Amino acid sequence: MRPSGVRRWYALAAAGAAVLSSPYWLPKSLVGLRVKVFEKVNGPEGVVVPNDQVGPERFAELYAHPAASGRSKGAGLSDLFWYWLSPGPEVHQEHLEPGPRYDAVARTTSTILAGTSAELSAAAARCAARVLEEKVPGGPGRRAALVRLRDLMMPVWAEFFHEMVFHEPCPPDARRLIVDNAEDVVNSLKNTRLRHMRRRARLTRYLLRRLAAGEVPHDLPAELATPRDRAHYLQGTFFNTAVVQMSEAMAHLLLVLAQHQDVQQRLADHPGDDRDLGNVMNETLRLFPLFGIAHRITDADIDLGDGVGYPAGTVLCFDYPAYHATGYTDPEVFDPGRWDRLSAKDAHHIPFGIAANRPCPAWRLSPLVMRAVTREVLGRYTLHSSVSHTRSIPHRAPCLLVPRDRPLSRPRRSAALAALRVRDRWEDVGRSTLQFVLGTWMVVDARRQRLTRAWFAGHDTQGRPLPDAPSPAAPPPRTAQTPPVPTAPPPAGPPPAGPPPACPYHHGG
Ligand code: HEM
Repeated sequence: MRPSGVRRWYALAAAGAAVLSSPYWLPKSLVGLRVKVFEKVNGPEGVVVPNDQVGPERFAELYAHPAASGRSKGAGLSDLFWYWLSPGPEVHQEHLEPGPRYDAVARTTSTILAGTSAELSAAAARCAARVLEEKVPGGPGRRAALVRLRDLMMPVWAEFFHEMVFHEPCPPDARRLIVDNAEDVVNSLKNTRLRHMRRRARLTRYLLRRLAAGEVPHDLPAELATPRDRAHYLQGTFFNTAVVQMSEAMAHLLLVLAQHQDVQQRLADHPGDDRDLGNVMNETLRLFPLFGIAHRITDADIDLGDGVGYPAGTVLCFDYPAYHATGYTDPEVFDPGRWDRLSAKDAHHIPFGIAANRPCPAWRLSPLVMRAVTREVLGRYTLHSSVSHTRSIPHRAPCLLVPRDRPLSRPRRSAALAALRVRDRWEDVGRSTLQFVLGTWMVVDARRQRLTRAWFAGHDTQGRPLPDAPSPAAPPPRTAQTPPVPTAPPPAGPPPAGPPPACPYHHGG
């Protein structure tokens, strides 16, 4: 063979090897590149905690500091979250600045989420049973079904939170609207899809209609001035955050069970063992906390003593996975039994945030209803999966559900799991490329729209219009991505300091 022919064969072999090995290097490289792009667009870092000055032992002290209280104003990072959680990010509880408006909204959320353990568990079990029977029916002749656990869980929580808000069963068309909305939000947060604001607006219209008809049996805060504000509050808190968080939490929990057959068997054999299931949930949320980072903007100087402090206006990014990985023996190991020896109260374990600083309002409800739904699932199926398991879980947790009374033979199960593993690795290649492209697009678009800065240029922290607000300028050109929110222009001057690269992943990534 001529030297040029040999060179061509070498080049072809190298290209082939690069393609074939791409599942092992491309996704990781693209995630790194995406983080760099986010950093470039958003500007310099905030302060990620724990760090050299504030170690894990002082993490909670800083998080609980009264001056670590700002939520949206003054962080470039907030533009991104407002963009993803639109429409109505300015009235989402998560984004409200402290004050009477926040207090009223937080009180209302707690009231809507209230209920006895028995009522809440029964409602969750009922919704799960209905959805499972519809999506993965049992009965003669039924075989294993391949599902994505997050997709399977979405309608369960759509129905459940519809019942909590409206005190009546969820009609199929309302469930579709809620699931479409929640999926759109979480997919855009994870950069696997762009936002579809028309889809989200359809749910807003449904809520507006029900509010106008007097069909919401709760007193909504007078501080939410317009019907649209009230519709956006319900949409953001119950049909976006609640549905997304519960579906993600259940996807993690069920995937863990699918990959730890001994634990799954134990729980299925002893469905009444609350302690064991509690340990498994604690360990799952320790290893896979739903929040990667929660941020606060300091509204006054913080002095922790020993020369450690942060000036007012600092963006503090509390890194949950890093904190959860400290203070444990073999923190990377999934070991539910460790919770027999530890108390969640004393450990570095904050899956629902910290009590002193805006904890999750569903910290009591969530574990309760997750137990009920887990029992419904385990009562019907055995779960099996060979896919990767990361905190951001962008693959939506592919899993094989096998009817408990019709087990698969071992060779068939092994073959199915081998095929699932291969598919997962290759999907990861395509998805990480897509996430890179869409993530870049959305970060740039959010930066262009600057929703937070535009809002606070025209409103005080309690949502009241400022008397000397600049007159509204022409909004940025409309795209399918542009939400119908704040119209005031951003103030002049340099953009605010942006987030650290990890911050955009606070819900998922
Ligand atoms: C297992 C499920 C859930 C987990 C692990 C979870 C986790 C969290 C965490 C860690 C925070 C605090 C972040 C921070 O400090 O900024 C939070 C806040 C919040 N969560 Fe949850 N959550 C879950 C379910 C829910 C549900 C079902 C709702 C329903 C309404 C909800 C609504 C909220 C709201 C409104 C906030 C903002 C609280 C505030 O700023 O006052 N979450 N969640």
